[in-house]
Amino acid sequence: MAAMSLLRISGAGKSFRGLHALSDVDLEVGEGEIVGIIGPNGAGKTTLFNVVCGALKPDTGTVTLDGRDLTGASPDRIARAGMVRTFQLMRPFTSMTVVQNVSLAAQHRRMSAKRLYEHSLAVVERVGLGPWAHRLATELPTAGLKRLELARTLAMRPRVLLLDEVLAGLVPAEREPVLDLLAELREQDGTTLLFIEHIMAAVMRLSDRVLVLDQGRVLATGAPEEVTSDPRVIDAYLGEEPARVDS
Ligand SMILES: Nc1ncnc2c1ncn2[C@@H]1O[C@H](COP(=O)(O)OP(=O)(O)OP(=O)(O)O)[C@@H](O)[C@H]1O
Ligand SMILES: [Mg+2]
Repeated sequence: MAAMSLLRISGAGKSFRGLHALSDVDLEVGEGEIVGIIGPNGAGKTTLFNVVCGALKPDTGTVTLDGRDLTGASPDRIARAGMVRTFQLMRPFTSMTVVQNVSLAAQHRRMSAKRLYEHSLAVVERVGLGPWAHRLATELPTAGLKRLELARTLAMRPRVLLLDEVLAGLVPAEREPVLDLLAELREQDGTTLLFIEHIMAAVMRLSDRVLVLDQGRVLATGAPEEVTSDPRVIDAYLGEEPARVDS
């Protein structure tokens, strides 16, 4: 797989005033692969996404996409190269409708206003927000905001999509369609997915491979069943909050 990696993260490190949020993290992801990222609160999961997508410059290490070095590049440039992330806390433009919020994200794609609108509406419908398309983003309930955040990223037609807890705050019935959509993105669009998630049932169902972070370091990586039966992972994460290993 190593020679075929689409995304290659090598020796990534980031400290905040002496706190090693991320230390020497290596990860290679093949095209169309789905990698789940788990670990306790503060393990460095979001920091990894920030470093990979340009929100933070890494102190050490490199990030390459399809052989192109994107280390320390701006989020814009990285998005144009095909790699986009969702935010854990979604902040839509509140004075805009759902479809207008999505259009804004797709603007850098050179399209006529009409095409941009049609494209954005199609994305809004794909994430199940069709009935909300012309309502203000502020009117959306939590589950709707999560879908809008997903739509915002999909409008950019990412080759690699990084999802930061897109299921958090959703009740089980609301999670199912999102999980189906993520599986469909890989099947139909060939999208490569990295997803940070605390809901283990989702991690087990979707991941080809799981990366476990603990205190900024890679604790384990492997097939979902392999990783979740690893005593070190149970010790550092799974054993700690059994209530979270729910549906
Ligand atoms: N911008 C920042 N400035 C200072 N410290 C930060 C910053 N971002 C993250 N940290 C710290 O780095 C560590 C890793 O944080 P990070 O957000 O990456 O964890 P996480 O694994 O995403 O946790 P969670 O599951 O709670 O989302 C934490 O101790 C956090 O407080
Ligand atoms: Mg986080």
